[in-house]
Amino acid sequence: MAAEVRRVGVAGTGAYAPEGVLTNADLEQMIDTTDEWITSRTGIKERRLVGEGEACSHLCVQAAEQAMEDAGVEPEEIDLVLVGTVTADYLLPANAPLIQDRLGMTDAAAFDLAGACTGFVQGLVTGTQFIACGTYDNVLVIGAEALSRFVNYEDRNSCIIFGDGAGAVVLQPWETCRQGEVLKTTLGSDGSGWDLIWAPAGGSLAPMNEERLAAKEHMIHLKGREVFKFAVSRMCGVIEELMEGEDEPLGLVIPHQVNLRIIRAAQERLGLPDDRIVVNIDRFGNTSAGSVPMAFDEARRDDRLVSGELVAMCAFGAGLNWGGALLRW
Ligand code: UT7
Repeated sequence: MAAEVRRVGVAGTGAYAPEGVLTNADLEQMIDTTDEWITSRTGIKERRLVGEGEACSHLCVQAAEQAMEDAGVEPEEIDLVLVGTVTADYLLPANAPLIQDRLGMTDAAAFDLAGACTGFVQGLVTGTQFIACGTYDNVLVIGAEALSRFVNYEDRNSCIIFGDGAGAVVLQPWETCRQGEVLKTTLGSDGSGWDLIWAPAGGSLAPMNEERLAAKEHMIHLKGREVFKFAVSRMCGVIEELMEGEDEPLGLVIPHQVNLRIIRAAQERLGLPDDRIVVNIDRFGNTSAGSVPMAFDEARRDDRLVSGELVAMCAFGAGLNWGGALLRW
């Protein structure tokens, strides 16, 4: 007999951005750039950066605590912790067990997903499967990055876009939480674009040595112009796929905060009005795996999630990877 597939919902959300602020005016003092160039090319005015002694796990803990409080769930009730990140505190262990320990989730499994900007959506899809098939009842999904630790602040092509931050959700059976039902999900990958966004050194192929360290090869290398076209087409492709067969309009789109021009180009192709798309890149920059759950939490706290309406999330990035989810709020 086939096992019952359970409906899955979002019981709570949370987000956290570190206190340090890096403005475009600050960047003007550091590299050959202008506020006008950054604003017109990316829509970013400032980003948040972790401070001394602060790391990705600290952002995760803050976002997770908020999401659990919002969901009315105690740490010991969490069955699984998933962290989407490529900037974990250590090369090993993963960040998820650190969060599991620090928050006292005494009965939880924990692992990371390294899908870069798609990491949170990969976690959402994974957590949904575990609840749908009846394995777990409370899954904490976090998307978080301390990207500033891997940004080369001498490279004006990349350092202007990235910021640090985290967002989180608690997933439950829909029968328990009665909101935010996950209707559809999608994931994809095109590994032929593996070197469009990457850190060449520090892995098992090119272990760190003095030469590589001096050349900053362990930091993020970005071919932004090539990623640009991919990003517009993936944002449209993911949303079109999620909306196939749906005859209701989208209530809200929560896109990866990649670049305002990319978001607006996709928005135009999809024919979406401004009030149907969440944008906070001006204040946080591109926080990779943190971006979608941070925007999701902001939309929720601003009462932009309307009961009964369709909500689409989409993300894409290094890998190349992409993913999305369609929810009914
Ligand atoms: O989330 C996944 C990872 N995110 C991404 O991969 C981001 C996707 N790409 C982008 O957001 C954009 O491609 C960037 C914001 C990274 C760059 O914007 P662009 O409009 O694609 O600029 P470009 O790379 O085509 O450069 C145009 C010009 C170049 O000068 P020349 O060669 O035309 O003389 C650059 O050297 O702008 C110059 N430039 C800058 N000028 C002032 C590049 N960066 C800067 C800068 N300030 N910060």
